[in-house]
Amino acid sequence: MLEKTLVLKVEPDAPNREVIRLAARIIRKGGLVAFPTETVYGLGADALNPKAVSALFKAKKRPRDNPPIVHVGCISDVYNLAREVPSKAEKLMEIFWPGPLTLIFKRSSNVPDVTVAGLDTIAVRMPKHNVALALIMESGCPIAAPSANLAGKPSPTTAEHVLEDLYGRIDAVLDAGPTHVGVESTVLDLTVTPPQILRPGGTPYEALREVLGEVELHPAALAEKELTISKARSPGLKHRHYAPKAEMVVVEGELSAVTEKIKELAEDYRRKGFKVGVLATRETFASYSADVVKSLGSRSNLAEIARNLFKALREFDSEGVGIIVAEGIPAEGLGLAVMNRLRKASSYRIVKASS
Ligand code: TXA
Ligand code: MG
Repeated sequence: MLEKTLVLKVEPDAPNREVIRLAARIIRKGGLVAFPTETVYGLGADALNPKAVSALFKAKKRPRDNPPIVHVGCISDVYNLAREVPSKAEKLMEIFWPGPLTLIFKRSSNVPDVTVAGLDTIAVRMPKHNVALALIMESGCPIAAPSANLAGKPSPTTAEHVLEDLYGRIDAVLDAGPTHVGVESTVLDLTVTPPQILRPGGTPYEALREVLGEVELHPAALAEKELTISKARSPGLKHRHYAPKAEMVVVEGELSAVTEKIKELAEDYRRKGFKVGVLATRETFASYSADVVKSLGSRSNLAEIARNLFKALREFDSEGVGIIVAEGIPAEGLGLAVMNRLRKASSYRIVKASS
């Protein structure tokens, strides 16, 4: 194991060339470099080097059956990784790349087995971040990058979060400050008809439907309850995810009923001796009086809520909260990704409030 992790500061828009060269050298030698994307920080390794990808699983303590996303610097790189690129995919790449949309293709035999966890498919995306794109270009290879957290933890939206989980386990992190979107990319499976969203994320369902006409949501994307996933189409669906150390309950329903229910639950848990955290929004923040109350932002600005989500979950942990009671938000636009993460983080402890 490595003793030290290099912290390399870079400007998010105009990254220093020498710093990128240093990071790219590490990638080319088979090392591990965490880097920012527009969604969350990723932990990068040369996607075509099986040893490097193997080390990546180990550093994250990630189950071997859950493959990472492969990041490319231009659309033409997809043709080396996928053996079939449907015309729907070409249209989507044209419109949404670079950006928070991951596409599942049938894999090409150029890709090592370990990179796709032995599946016949591969997940690919082009990130919308100058540091990520510069790193991929300078490395000269596609970069396999799962989120740069220990398996099961909330994804990192700052370099500090990466170091909290992975200091001493990876070679370097490129620190370009907080990420913009805050939730991971949308994962869309194009090997089935109609295309299916396996993980809602930074590209809203509504935007994909507008382009594709027909697009389905995998039942686990809604994640209203835990599903038994037998044959892993998206292996990530069956593993515990985004979870803070604290226990968590999500309260959903009409807003006034939700706030009343949260007050009641917070009081109950407090009486049982828990340190209670409430995950609120700007509009409701003042109505709660738990040990720790945090606002994710305004209910009228879902982008702000998404951006602040993972940071808030990590903060509750560092403040020693035992139980988090979280306010649900409407599952529309980016709200679907937020609700998917909250429901999973709570292990599907969902309370429906009604007045
Ligand atoms: O925004 C993001 O997507 C971030 C940044 C770093 O790009 N990456 C990320 O990677 O969230 P990760 O590895 O934490 O999540 C990848 C997801 C997992 O749910 C995994 O199961 C799924 O993509 N996936 C990967 N390969 C797949 C495949 N061949 N078929 C279906 N799902 C796949
Ligand atoms: Mg992840």
